[in-house]
Order: sequence, then structure tokens, then C-alpha cells
Amino acid sequence: MTASPKRVVLAARPHGEPKTSDFRLEDYAMPVPGEGEVLLRTIWLSLDPYMRGRMNDAASYSEPVPVDGVMEGGTVCEVLASNNPGVAKGDIVLAHSGWQTHAVVDGKLVRKVDTGLGPISTAVGILGMPGMTAYTGLLDIGQPKEGETVVVAAASGAVGSAVGQIAMIKGARAVGIAGGKDKCDYVKNELGFAECIDHRDPDFAAKLKAACPDGIDVYFENVGGEVFEAVFPLLNFFARIPVCGLIASYSDTADSTPKWAGKLMRTVLTKRLLIRGFIVRDFANRRGDFLRDMSQWVKEGKVKYKEFVTEGLDSAPEAFMGLLKGKNFGKQLVRIGADKV
Ligand SMILES: NC(=O)c1ccc[n+]([C@@H]2O[C@H](COP(=O)([O-])OP(=O)(O)OC[C@H]3O[C@@H](n4cnc5c(N)ncnc54)[C@H](OP(=O)(O)O)[C@@H]3O)[C@@H](O)[C@H]2O)c1
Repeated sequence: MTASPKRVVLAARPHGEPKTSDFRLEDYAMPVPGEGEVLLRTIWLSLDPYMRGRMNDAASYSEPVPVDGVMEGGTVCEVLASNNPGVAKGDIVLAHSGWQTHAVVDGKLVRKVDTGLGPISTAVGILGMPGMTAYTGLLDIGQPKEGETVVVAAASGAVGSAVGQIAMIKGARAVGIAGGKDKCDYVKNELGFAECIDHRDPDFAAKLKAACPDGIDVYFENVGGEVFEAVFPLLNFFARIPVCGLIASYSDTADSTPKWAGKLMRTVLTKRLLIRGFIVRDFANRRGDFLRDMSQWVKEGKVKYKEFVTEGLDSAPEAFMGLLKGKNFGKQLVRIGADKV
């Protein structure tokens, strides 16, 4: 007999950092696909920082997860049954079916994974949403040029590691920022960034300045907070800042404006800085270019990636809370089921 399906729901809205009691693991009846729908078995669940925002009941670019609702998330799944002519039983698909072992979704909302491009987990990693975020944010907004300095934080992570490597492919000098010696060693020695500075180092700001003797031309913003404060004075004239994420403040509770916000905007004006926020789906029309280039770079070894895997759906809440504190070392994934059953 197969075990009953399991899912993780939002038990309560967190105040500040999420805690274990904000999540609940529960059983549910195996769903049955209706007309046009497919039944999915989850193989990989992607954990991503944006999920913290979905736990709040606040206006954002997407709807919040309702209390008692299934936690949202990108998945790689096997199709167990299909009532949709475009999807076949046995297909491996990319879905947004959330933190659960099985789901029924509209067949129009899944996308077949090209299993020839790499391991299927990469469909939610380097060849998926995080990789495409790095590709579009850096190339379309950052526009790095030969010899320029590109700085990115969370540099060993899913997005940041790709940003620095793409910058190097474009002839720029990549400087990473990461938490701790192991991550910095990986970024510098294995990924080939020119430098990587530990943001927890008491001399972080001075070391970042020394690592960027010609200033910063592109700052790919992943974290905000104190990291941005150290980057800010080093920005060159006409620097570009793709604002991708602000993970340092995702669990903030006070709605305060930083004291130096006025100075920031004055510098935007005088140094003619380009700061542009973006959500990866803004660049949906670049998906073909992204998959072509990134899969080629990965094959050629020009872009390396690291996965950080925890086992089983019940590990997801702990793994997610760890992601927000930098406990992950690489793209955070949860293995939900075997590739084949
Ligand atoms: N705009 C979009 O469409 C889009 C799409 C995907 C991701 N994002 C954003 O991109 C960023 C990176 O996401 P990811 O999926 O690649 O995650 P990730 O880098 O794999 O993991 C998150 C990392 O953030 C770092 N971090 C956490 N708190 C920090 C703090 N206070 N100061 C400095 N670093 C901190 C940690 O790395 P260290 O240990 O190295 O500090 C942690 O490992 C996030 O802000 C995310 O929200 C945006």
C-alpha cells in the first residue's frame, strides 16, 4: 500500500523570523484529476527566499499563502495521470505545485522538462528560475562590460553564483560577498571570482573597498541591509544596480525608512546611477535565450553550480528557515520522491 499524500501548510503567519510552529505537516486524500488536469508526484521541491514574503499578509507582487493553505513552491514532478492531451503519463514536468507529495493542477500550467539538458533538479536551479534571474537581471539591467567590476552578495547561492560567473564570461571582474570562510573559498577558488569578502568580518567594508580598487560598476543586489551600506560609497559614475532581492530584511517587522535614504537618492541623481527592481517573470520572453546560453555554459564548464539537498518533505520547514539565515551552501532543494518509482 502506498503511504497517503503529505503536505506542509502555513499554520500561522510569522512575526519576524519564521519558526517551526508556523508550519504544519498533514495527510490528505489522494487528489483526482478532472478535465484538462494532471496528477503529479513531486520529485524535487525548490525552496526560495521569496516564500518568506508569501507567508505575510501584505500587499506584494503576488498573493500571500492563506493560513492553512499549502506552502507555495516550484517543483519537478512526474505525471502519474493526465486528462490533458498536451501532457503524457510519465512526463517529467516543471510545476508550481507547492510543498506536497502529490498535486492536481491544470495541465496548461506545467512545462515539460528537457531531460537532455542536465539532471532534472537543475530545472528549478541553474537552468530554472534562479539561473534565469541571474541571467536576465545581470545582462538586461546590469549590462556588464569588459574590465568592469561586478559585485554580488549571497555569492555562493543559486542566483549569486551564476551572476558572478556570467559576469566573468562577459569579461568583467567578479567580486563576491558571502557568509563565512568556506563559502568565500568556494566562490574564489572553485568559481574563479577575483575576490570574495565575508560580510560577517568586522572589517568587511574596508576589505570590500580594497577588493574593488576601481570602484563598482554593477552591483547585483541580493541582500540589502549592511551589505548595501558598504557597497554604496564605492559605486562608480553610471553604475547599474539590478535590485533582485533584499533577503537581509525579509523578516523585518518595523516599517522604518533608513536614515540615509535621502542621501541615497541624491547619489542616484549626481552619479546617474541606474537602480531597477525586477521580478524574473518580467523577462519571460528571454527564456529561450537563457536556456540556450546557460545550458551551453554549464556543458562547457564555464558555469558551475552547487546543490544543497535535504531529504523528505518533513525537512522542508527547517531547511527553509536555514535558507533565510545562510545555512544553505548552494541551491536549496528538498528531495521529495525518487526519480522513478
Ligand atoms: N527578483 C526575482 O525575480 C528573484 C528571483 C530569485 C531570487 N531572488 C532573490 O535573490 C536573492 C538570492 O536568492 P537565492 O535563491 O539565490 O538564495 P541563496 O543565495 O541560495 O540563499 C540565500 C542566501 O542569502 C544570504 N543571506 C541571508 N541573510 C543575509 C544577510 N543578512 N546578509 C547577507 N546575506 C544574507 C545567505 O548567504 P551567505 O551565507 O553567503 O550570507 C543565504 O545562503 C534573494 O534575495 C532572493 O529573494 C529574486
